Amino acid sequence: MLSIFAITLVLLSANFVANGQSTVPPNSRIDCDPTPNSNQGECTSRGCIWDSNFDSNNPTVPLCYYPPNTGYNATSTTKTTATLKPVPGGVGNPYGSNYPELQFTWKSLGSAVKIQIAPVDITRYRPPVDINENANIQSSEAFTVEIVNKNIFSFNVKRKSNGVRIWDTSIGGLLFADQFIQISTYLPSKKIYGFGEHIHKNLQHDFSKYTTWGMFARDEPPDSAGDTPKNLYGVHPFYLGLEDDGKAYGVFIFNSNAQEVVTGPAPHLTYRTIGGQLEVFFFPGPKPEDVVQQYQQVVGTPFLPAYWALGFQLCRYGYTGVDEVKQTVKRLADAGIPQDVQFADIDYMDRYKDFTYDHNKWAAWPNFTDELHSMGKRVTLIFDPAIQADYDSFKRGIDSNASFIEWPTQDVVMKNINDQYPYAKNTKVMLGVVWPDKHVGFPDFLDPTNLTTKWWINEFKLYHQQQAFDGIWIDMNEPSNFGTNEDHPWYYDSSDHPDDLPLKCPTSGDNAHYDIPPYATASSFWQSGNVLATKTLCMFGTTMRGTQRFFDTKNLYGLSETISTYQAVKEVRGKRGAVVTRSTFPSSGRYAGHWLGDNTARWEDLQTSVIGAQEFNIFGIPYVGSDICGFIGTTTEELCLRWQQMGAFHSFSRNHNTLGAPLQDPAQWPTVAAATRKHNLFRYRHLPYLFSLHFAATLNGGTVVRPLFFEFTDEEATHNLSHQFLWGSNMLIVPVVTQGATTVDAYLPTGADWYSMSDSYYGTKVTSGHGNYAAPWDALIPVFLRAGAILPRQSPALTTSDARKNRFELVVGLKHAEDGTATASGELYWDDGEAWVDTINTHNFYHFTYDFQYTSAIGTLTIKQTKAATGITLPYLDNIEVFGYPSLPDMKTFNLNGSPISAPASDYSPFSQIFNITGSNFINLNTGKQWILQWKNH
Ligand SMILES: *[C@@H]1O[C@H](CO)[C@@H](O)[C@H](O)[C@H]1NC(C)=O
Ligand SMILES: *[C@@H]1O[C@H](CO)[C@@H](O)[C@H](O)[C@H]1NC(C)=O
Ligand SMILES: *[C@@H]1O[C@H](CO)[C@@H](O)[C@H](O)[C@H]1NC(C)=O
Ligand SMILES: *[C@@H]1O[C@H](CO)[C@@H](O)[C@H](O)[C@H]1NC(C)=O
Ligand SMILES: *[C@@H]1O[C@H](CO)[C@@H](O)[C@H](O)[C@H]1NC(C)=O
Ligand SMILES: *[C@@H]1O[C@H](CO)[C@@H](O)[C@H](O)[C@H]1NC(C)=O
Repeated sequence: MLSIFAITLVLLSANFVANGQSTVPPNSRIDCDPTPNSNQGECTSRGCIWDSNFDSNNPTVPLCYYPPNTGYNATSTTKTTATLKPVPGGVGNPYGSNYPELQFTWKSLGSAVKIQIAPVDITRYRPPVDINENANIQSSEAFTVEIVNKNIFSFNVKRKSNGVRIWDTSIGGLLFADQFIQISTYLPSKKIYGFGEHIHKNLQHDFSKYTTWGMFARDEPPDSAGDTPKNLYGVHPFYLGLEDDGKAYGVFIFNSNAQEVVTGPAPHLTYRTIGGQLEVFFFPGPKPEDVVQQYQQVVGTPFLPAYWALGFQLCRYGYTGVDEVKQTVKRLADAGIPQDVQFADIDYMDRYKDFTYDHNKWAAWPNFTDELHSMGKRVTLIFDPAIQADYDSFKRGIDSNASFIEWPTQDVVMKNINDQYPYAKNTKVMLGVVWPDKHVGFPDFLDPTNLTTKWWINEFKLYHQQQAFDGIWIDMNEPSNFGTNEDHPWYYDSSDHPDDLPLKCPTSGDNAHYDIPPYATASSFWQSGNVLATKTLCMFGTTMRGTQRFFDTKNLYGLSETISTYQAVKEVRGKRGAVVTRSTFPSSGRYAGHWLGDNTARWEDLQTSVIGAQEFNIFGIPYVGSDICGFIGTTTEELCLRWQQMGAFHSFSRNHNTLGAPLQDPAQWPTVAAATRKHNLFRYRHLPYLFSLHFAATLNGGTVVRPLFFEFTDEEATHNLSHQFLWGSNMLIVPVVTQGATTVDAYLPTGADWYSMSDSYYGTKVTSGHGNYAAPWDALIPVFLRAGAILPRQSPALTTSDARKNRFELVVGLKHAEDGTATASGELYWDDGEAWVDTINTHNFYHFTYDFQYTSAIGTLTIKQTKAATGITLPYLDNIEVFGYPSLPDMKTFNLNGSPISAPASDYSPFSQIFNITGSNFINLNTGKQWILQWKNH
């Protein structure tokens, strides 16, 4: 009886005193020994509290936790600063000595705020990333910061309009040592989205338990069937939250070290990093889309993909050679499946060396590239960052003073490796092992002299003279290295790989504190034996011409390679293409897109890819998609069919599979071919809309594929939807993501009316709310048009180069007002499809707006050209489908800008209420600035 009473008290009171020590309730603890083997002896020796009441119903509750008086004391404060000293008698930093004096500062960035905590008088590492840290963010809502000058320093980031605390660090636990920095905060609600890169099984985080998410770029295939919060290829310390009243905010932590975040039930967050400092940006929204735009004012708006990069793409690792690729391309064309891009994976290379190709199996590839071009198709090739140490590309790098990730000094170089290679012999280049047969060096794209980028671009130039590829796919750029620190790496037993000596990093002695830091973060805990350098280079290495440690910059490797490669596309092609990268960091979206990595052909992977694409849109990387049908393993007809259907709605739409797996291009099964043809044709018809969304994101920031709660934030039912998504504001897509399903449950927000775009109820209004929709294999998956929207579209074709010549069309979903009138509006951005974009504002592009007004007497469509391009010929607008048209129109009364015009093939059905206006060479958008099409109703 007594003990139950005591436990209840512990749960209720934050400062219940037991054994002379204040305790903290189980839901708001900060773990004092977050390693896998936490124990009482270690715990109490740190001065922390050990809770022996293990609760098997809540097994994630930390048993070892910091007492409430952990942190720093503000010894002096001003309105925007505080000087902090460790709390006398408080628990120290378990992983180093707390700095004796820290400075807290905050400032407004317009309506946003930024806080910073760093040691006084000591220069700490800051990520060398080009962000706009002084962005002047304008919003109807603003944040402010309140320094709470109590014995334990804390601060609140508050929404000015209603005082909601976005961060409230009074939960305690601020620690700051050289290699262990920790800050915790209460959260205003449990509705948190983001942090990456991870597999999330729901878009919304789960705060019913404690979960630790490591963030450290790693060559780790996503495991969607398992339940491990593994860190994957990229690092995104960014999240978006919804407050109880539905206002949205964003938080960006600008730090590139190995790090982790704990989501806990208070609800609260604990953030830990092992280097750099704390710099945190807070964006006030108040709408979710505002948050993403505000974030992108700091990290940059997304690049604009070439138009062809929005077409369908195909790849596999393990084609038997060019003939098999030829047959595959032909098979798709014969099946009437649109395809724009053919990829080649690493097997096109000569023994996996960049800038070479296999002169046996792939001898005909450069010629086939030209052939693909003549068919209006494009080619994207894979390149890995690491360069084998004994051939021309490496030699040119060394000769031109390009730099590589290096050992810090000559005496620690692994001479038994470097001495094997004359070009590397007297260098400090840190050699590792990846796909090529011999050791490889890793170019240092952060090289501040630009010599490395210059050399990299030149390699692409030389290679482009041999074969005229269009897009660049960069893989393995975490960077991945095989067998680090292992005595018997996996490749020793691979017939495809010689037994190259593996890289060994210092794991003891004076040089070990980078590779074996006091706290290695959850990024290395989830598999025993892991250290930070597992699968990558030594943290001990140096970058930026010896001025920085790889320990600090490792998470920027993919981003820096992406920037150099983006510049290579410009130099080599002089036109836009698309770079697709595996490893990403905040701002990667400015230069490239992302595919969701080496997934597996399983239903779970299809499900999580729907979530992953929404998350990467939140991260500012809207050009994103998964390997359709699954990369690893053998797919099935049904899975591949459902994945092709869904994947037709991701910006980067590519089917890809691995070596040894059976062919899985969509023409392998008649059912999958038919479904892919149908969905790809739908995609191609609506590419003018998808392109306009990308263009708007480049111009103004924002998402392309969008979670439903972004648009319908006041509908609670949208807050935890993971497997439906929107294209922009106006098209809702409900993919089928479970085996055996022939119908799908969906939520259609009640804040709008919706028209079906699927086969059977095409153009008719559907009931909003929860519903179940038919989804047979041979029909378009449920797709809905939002009432009030006009989408630009174009008759499809088998390539975008052909489709771009076809007639323009509009689809209009009328929104009805109570007074019997109806309206809709929309826009189109259009350019030549591949001119390089330096500054989007001065780019050569068209912009049109559409406005539809219906009254019982008259119908009016007004098209305005609000920006004109030069040298681009626009197809005629020849078809306008109007959904929800309530009256019988008089087709003899059409007039354009006041002159009669005929549209004899037009058609109206009073049953479906579809008014289908069709003319031939109907509206010429090349002359004039405004077109008013009008008609009378009977
Ligand atoms: C914190 O600093 C203030 C101001 O110097 C001082 O009054 C207070 O006693 C300190 N608290 C602790 C716990 O050291
Ligand atoms: C590529 O095309 C050129 C020109 O048509 C021809 O001379 C050459 O033999 C072809 N190469 C291969 C490997 O097919
Ligand atoms: C590379 O560096 C060496 C030694 O510092 C110097 O002699 C040489 O001129 C440099 N070459 C280039 C291309 O910058
Ligand atoms: C390197 O290139 C960047 C971008 O083009 C430029 O801003 C910078 O000045 C260059 N640095 C040097 C040392 O040339
Ligand atoms: C969100 O939805 C998932 C899947 O239906 C469910 O497991 C989870 O409990 C939900 N989360 C919340 C907070 O309701
Ligand atoms: C509208 O007319 C076009 C011909 O211009 C036709 O292809 C299309 O199927 C029609 N739409 C409907 C809903 O009937």
